[in-house]
Amino acid sequence: APATPASPRLLGFSAVAKSLADTVTVPAGYSASVLFALGDPIAAGLAAYKNDGSDTDFERRAGDHHDGIEWFGLGADGKRNDNASERGLLAINHEATTDEKLSSYFLHPDGGTSSLPRPAAEVDKEITVHGITVVEVAKSAGKWAYVPGSALNFRLTAQSPIEIAGPARGSAQLITKYSPTGTMTRGTLNNCGTGKTPWGSFLTAEENWAGYFTRSAADDAARGNGKSVTALKRYGRNQGAASRHGWETGGAGDQYQRWNNSLIGASADGSDDYRNAMNCMGYIVEIDPYDKTRMAKKRTALGRFAHENAVFGTPVAGQPLSVYMGDDSRGEYIYKFVSSALWNAADANASDRMAVGDKYLDSGRLYVARFDADGTGAWVELALSNSAIANYAAYRFADAADIAINTRLAADAVGATRMDRPEWAAVNPANGEAYFTLTNNNQSRNINPGSGQYPPDAANPRAYTDMKGTTRQEGNPNGHLVRLKENPRDPVTGFSWDVYLFGAEAGADKAMVNLSALTHEQDFSSPDGLVFSQATGICWIETDDNAYTDVSNCMLLAATPGQVGDGAKKTLSYTRADGSRLDIVTPVGRAATADTLKRFLVGPKGCEITGLAETPDGKALFVNVQHPGESTGIANLADPAKYQSQWPANAGYGAGKRPRSATIVITRNDGGSVGT
Ligand code: FEO
Ligand code: CA
Ligand code: CA
Ligand code: CA
Repeated sequence: APATPASPRLLGFSAVAKSLADTVTVPAGYSASVLFALGDPIAAGLAAYKNDGSDTDFERRAGDHHDGIEWFGLGADGKRNDNASERGLLAINHEATTDEKLSSYFLHPDGGTSSLPRPAAEVDKEITVHGITVVEVAKSAGKWAYVPGSALNFRLTAQSPIEIAGPARGSAQLITKYSPTGTMTRGTLNNCGTGKTPWGSFLTAEENWAGYFTRSAADDAARGNGKSVTALKRYGRNQGAASRHGWETGGAGDQYQRWNNSLIGASADGSDDYRNAMNCMGYIVEIDPYDKTRMAKKRTALGRFAHENAVFGTPVAGQPLSVYMGDDSRGEYIYKFVSSALWNAADANASDRMAVGDKYLDSGRLYVARFDADGTGAWVELALSNSAIANYAAYRFADAADIAINTRLAADAVGATRMDRPEWAAVNPANGEAYFTLTNNNQSRNINPGSGQYPPDAANPRAYTDMKGTTRQEGNPNGHLVRLKENPRDPVTGFSWDVYLFGAEAGADKAMVNLSALTHEQDFSSPDGLVFSQATGICWIETDDNAYTDVSNCMLLAATPGQVGDGAKKTLSYTRADGSRLDIVTPVGRAATADTLKRFLVGPKGCEITGLAETPDGKALFVNVQHPGESTGIANLADPAKYQSQWPANAGYGAGKRPRSATIVITRNDGGSVGT
């Protein structure tokens, strides 16, 4: 098929230069302003954020580390209106905190405690800044602002009650002292990317939750070295692992003890301790953004892993719904959920959104991706009916709940393709193709693989090798994006794919590194956030980089992709340590040009640019600036001159000089669509 040419009306702005300035830079003719930052009050009568570590009441303030974001329109009556572009709700993930030696130091007057035990007051604050915010925003007299006293505003935190739904509901592996029936849990945690359902609810993805739990040094033996130990290790918690913040030391109350995932109680089923607490995290959580009285639900049918985000394939009446998802860890997998229920377009406007979620998200098939070297691929079902899972010797799966909870082990069993850290998924509204950012990978992918390492493959062709002397870069520190097109004859289980773009520094070797021929107007590293505009069709790419931040702060790029197969096959030739040759042949999309990929924004120092939402008219773009100044360090807290960043205070927003994660809104000065 011929390549779809980029629409000439897109990317009509001048590219933003790479920058190390402590500011948000957007193209000439655009404005960016701070809309909603860490600590901003979302309830009437609450004091403005003092930003000196003394603030409390975070259950009624913005959380920290803004990440994924979605727009939900409101009509003049304050009810859902999908066409509204001047009033709406923003649902925002608060992934984590800027921390060092246990403490989220910007949140405490003196940086907080750097040793155990942690004081209850610090722990309470840190638990509460995690989770999500739903906040009303509106445009008035041409200016966007959030509505601090809106009755629609709410927070969910890492302590909020949440229902377990889907195949794992009631599983023995989810029994806790809090919920002996295994049907409830508390909190959503490390909320990374987002999703929006076709029926107007919000999806939040639980990513790096495992690190928040501790496990005693003798826990393996306490568990009889059984299946649960295999599972805990596969999810990154060896016995003796310390927790990220030491929250379990905040006191005797369950809100602290729940972070200790050790088997310490006497009961056979775990109903008197929190040995199963980790199994209650790691899901896609559905939330009704329009109704804070509805309890959120963890949709376990979509599997349990380090969920990055969740994006629906284009809904087709009478067909099942599909949801694409990545597991962001080195060597983890790409997944697809396919609903049992067939899409009824009338459900898009149903008043009981959580009931529609029950219909489509609690029953279906979960697949993992295998990318084959010939440019085709397969979705492999994760079910006991698959003999590779039924006969897997390393872990004996009991039932569908076991697969929903221990999804990574099931994917191991079927030989899925290990990817270079799958971050966001996005679907091109022009043709339904699914895109995935693979942010980077050096340590694990190696042409001379040692223990725990694996060689490059067609879908992840850049691997660590000794390229010193020929280029600055080795392996895949800059990441890439893959995309896939479902096979029209077999759309559930077959696809074709290519590598859409390779991140690289302009000027790097074009045969092995800069395979997409990036120039200075568009070079980037470590793609992470990825969102297609429904209004303009622009593919927005955001970066979370460590490999290139000596040259530029993290950024947002606008792209007009073609389609799978619009480029050519390329061969990456390696020489192994033993002198043998390794040729990896990879289908690569067309080279980038100034018309198809352009840098749109550069953020302040130490930040990640992440999450993107737009109004339906495409005239306002909401983007999150996460953890500016993250390398400041506790030792420099007393001296603002030593902060890595003073944003957004240096942009005129709010009190104090401590850097704050924030949502910004970007508009075109002439009122046009953003990015055109
Ligand atoms: Fe929270 Fe993988 O980014
Ligand atoms: Ca991310
Ligand atoms: Ca990242
Ligand atoms: Ca981050």
